[in-house]
Parts: sequence; C-alpha cells; structure tokens
Amino acid sequence: MLWGVVHTKGGVGKTTTSLYLALAAHRRGVPVRLVDADPQASATMWASAAVRAGHPLPFAVEPYSGAPRAKSGELILIDTPPGQADVLQEVLDCVDVAIVPTAASPMDLERVWPTLEVTSHLPTVVLLTQINTRARLVAELRELFEEQGVPVAENFIRHKEAFKQAWGTTPADLAGYGEVYDEISEALKWH
Ligand SMILES: Nc1ncnc2c1ncn2[C@@H]1O[C@H](COP(=O)(O)OP(=O)(O)OP(=O)(O)O)[C@@H](O)[C@H]1O
Ligand SMILES: [Mg+2]
Repeated sequence: MLWGVVHTKGGVGKTTTSLYLALAAHRRGVPVRLVDADPQASATMWASAAVRAGHPLPFAVEPYSGAPRAKSGELILIDTPPGQADVLQEVLDCVDVAIVPTAASPMDLERVWPTLEVTSHLPTVVLLTQINTRARLVAELRELFEEQGVPVAENFIRHKEAFKQAWGTTPADLAGYGEVYDEISEALKWH
C-alpha cells in the first residue's frame, strides 16, 4: 500500500509526518520504506544524519525514481515537495491515499484548499498538526473541513519543540503519530 504525504505549501510538516508514520508502521511490525520525492531531499538528509549519529533509522529511505511498487503487506510512505512540481502529480497518480498535514493558522488553512483540489480523485485525509490550541477550536476546524466533504483525522499532532529536536535522530516517542497511524490504517482496513 502507498501513502502520499502532500501539501503544496512548504513547512507544514510533510517530512516530519512521513518519517513518524513510517516509524509508527515499523514499530507495529509492518515492513515499511520511505520514498523521498522531494528534490530538497530532507528525508534523505534526516536518514544520513541518523546514520552519522550512530542510530540509523530502522527502515530504508530511498530516492523517488518513478512510481514505487509495494510488495504484499508492505507500506510505502512518499514524502513530496511543496509547490506544484510534476512529481507531485505523478505521486498522486500512484498512491492509495493522500495525507494532507496542515497547521491551524488562517494562512495554512487558506492554502490547504488548492491541495485538496489536486487530491480530489483519491481518498484524502487532512491531518491537523502543529496544534497549540484548545480542543474546541480543533473541533470547529474539523467541522469546517467536514462541511466540505473532507475527512479530518480524529487524532491530531500538537505543536512540540521535541519535533525540531528529533531531526536527524530515530525518535523514541511517536508523539501522537502512533494514534494517527492506527486511525488511518483502520480507516483503510490495512493491518
Ligand atoms: N508538530 C510540530 N510541532 C513543532 N514543530 C514541528 C511540528 N511538525 C513539524 N515541525 C517543524 O516544522 C518545520 C517544518 O517541518 P517539515 O520539514 O516536516 O515540513 P515540510 O512540509 O516537509 O517542509 P518542506 O515543504 O520544506 O518540505 C521543521 O523544523 C519541523 O521540525
Ligand atoms: Mg519536507
């Protein structure tokens, strides 16, 4: 199965989400690879830094070279670049689901709609991330998306400094991504 992590805006948490979801899958015993379709190669650099630090990531991070094929029972996470690169369209043509991480600021939310247009032909789930607000506001945001027919993950990711510190390491704490992984895999009837 292939999961694409996409958002046309930069810096919303695509690479962080791809990496943590891959780690969550690995910790649940699912064979997983992370394919890096971003020419900035952030996920690849993260993996190299983890090797240099003596704690390599427990799954492969590979460059994108055409639509990957998952083996039976295998999960492939694809991290994508911001903007409207051709590779984004290619990725959206091969994945089973698009995961769209978005922060809750008005600007981030404004920018999420064009992304949802390009994913409209496939199952899509919005993941609220970098949240440092009250639960009531999160519920309102969820309603806003659901009124437009866009599912939002029940579980969301809080804004935490720990995510910045985690760069280049193999984080011990999944910091909410374990629940997100379980929710998405259950929704897709996957494992
Ligand atoms: N939940 C969070 N709380 C705090 N900081 C976060 C969180 N998620 C991501 N970050 C930080 O936000 C920055 C951008 O995250 P990330 O690189 O994952 O975004 P991106 O969408 O992949 O960016 P790009 O579009 O440049 O590829 C990083 O410094 C990351 O550590
Ligand atoms: Mg990135």
